[in-house]
Amino acid sequence: MENIDLKKLPRHIAIIMDGNGRWAKEHFLGRILGHRKGAEAVRVTVRTCREIGIEYLTLYAFSVENWLRPVEEVEGLMKLLGEFLQAELQEMLDNDIRLTTIGDIETLREPLKKLLRKTMEATAHNKGMVLNLALSYGGRDEIIGAVKKILKDSATGKVTSSQMTKELFSSYLQTSHTPDPDLLIRTSGEYRLSNFLLWQAAYTEFYFTDVLWPDFGRKDLFEAITAYQARERRFGLTSEQLRNG
Ligand code: FPP
Repeated sequence: MENIDLKKLPRHIAIIMDGNGRWAKEHFLGRILGHRKGAEAVRVTVRTCREIGIEYLTLYAFSVENWLRPVEEVEGLMKLLGEFLQAELQEMLDNDIRLTTIGDIETLREPLKKLLRKTMEATAHNKGMVLNLALSYGGRDEIIGAVKKILKDSATGKVTSSQMTKELFSSYLQTSHTPDPDLLIRTSGEYRLSNFLLWQAAYTEFYFTDVLWPDFGRKDLFEAITAYQARERRFGLTSEQLRNG
């Protein structure tokens, strides 16, 4: 933490938590145990982000493509998510954390859906940090969903093509309650966006690490933030423009 400038923190960190399966293999364990250890790393990351003052944390917990994994793995992940919500509710309340989701939550089954609704309701007024879980999430699906809503609003005259701006389009996305991510972390040495926050990551700083998600701890998070803080974000401008602007 000593290296981090608390006045220059990313407002919004997004994480692609990758490598649970490989971690399990390396430890001669089943994949579900890798995810279970991954859920521990989630706890540590949520706690650390809240502690240092991150405002938004978006975690890619389950993608639309993940439905194609073996049934036992999907079931195992759903069970873990339910356990996580139950175990963390009190901590979220104590630490002023609001839980939100992006993704097609309707495709999830009960009792997870109910648990999500309950947790979101119970934490709805918390202001300390937004913990945003991407569940059954796909960036392209999200964009298509926004286009459909816009077409509907256009048919009723609520929106016209001349009104359409990047900001208005963003407001139709499921992330309308968050600013765009400043820092996106992907673990396990993979260098892909994997259909995560496609529109929102236009100017996001990417940080890749070989660390497998279950091994990702405080130190790794601080390293990512330190790397972010060493970068110059130009948003398409020149360095001179930024200095003079
Ligand atoms: C990627 O590892 C990880 C996932 C598909 C699921 C992420 C879920 C968790 C971290 C645990 C539960 C989440 C919460 C919020 C409590 P992988 O299985 O693709 O790993 P591999 O590429 O090494 O096989």
